[in-house]
Amino acid sequence: MPSDTAYHGALGDHFAQWSSAHPTNAYIDRPAMLALIGDVAGLDVLDVGCGSGFYSAAMVERGARVTGIDGSETLLRYAEKACGGRATFVRHDLEQPLPFADAAFDLAVMALVYGHVYDREQLLRELRRVLRPGARLLVSTTHPVGEQRWLGGSYYEGGRVDAPVGEYTINFERMTVERFVNELLDGGFVLERLLEPRPVEALRDVVDAEKYERIMNSTHVLTVAMRRPAD
Ligand SMILES: C[S@@+](CC[C@H](N)C(=O)[O-])C[C@H]1O[C@@H](n2cnc3c(N)ncnc32)[C@H](O)[C@@H]1O
Repeated sequence: MPSDTAYHGALGDHFAQWSSAHPTNAYIDRPAMLALIGDVAGLDVLDVGCGSGFYSAAMVERGARVTGIDGSETLLRYAEKACGGRATFVRHDLEQPLPFADAAFDLAVMALVYGHVYDREQLLRELRRVLRPGARLLVSTTHPVGEQRWLGGSYYEGGRVDAPVGEYTINFERMTVERFVNELLDGGFVLERLLEPRPVEALRDVVDAEKYERIMNSTHVLTVAMRRPAD
């Protein structure tokens, strides 16, 4: 039985604060993902593992009808606040079937969540079910090369790891780039774009020159735009 990987309690509070300033989230993942999200006015959008609601709020601002799901009650409270009642949030464990009708969404955004999930085959099957034919699925993950730099060990071996985040621990599956992409392809999605985003220029103003160079010259995030083919 998989353990619960959602960010509960103090870990949720920590993530909500830290992610708004941390280079990986605030200066790399989020700008790249927002660019891919693009114009979503009038679309039904699912924010999978919505955390503190950063993407939900941004997509509400862009005129989408947003539903956010996450396993953490703590983070859902932040998300509700970020969207001020203009999005729907549902507490949901991603190991379980999604609580939505078939073909309910035009877009699903899943930022830095995928590796936490044990039963990714089921999750992808469910995402395929709730997305309309032709809908996009945007997925980001910590870059496997960056994970190797962070956690050591073999690039190829993979497997579940407990990784430190401040004084907390998160659990996720390490996988190669090859495995990450092939799982999504095997899940019935088509790859449209693969990105290894660099930080946005604004990072220069918040870290020292040496750290900026280090971050600029290494991989941190891997992002893919997938599409659910028309039947
Ligand atoms: C790194 S955070 C990303 C949050 C958000 N997408 C963002 O980029 O700001 C990972 C999120 O996945 C959620 N999560 C992890 N495992 C989960 C599970 N099994 N079911 C539901 N949510 C889960 C956590 O609670 C957390 O909000």
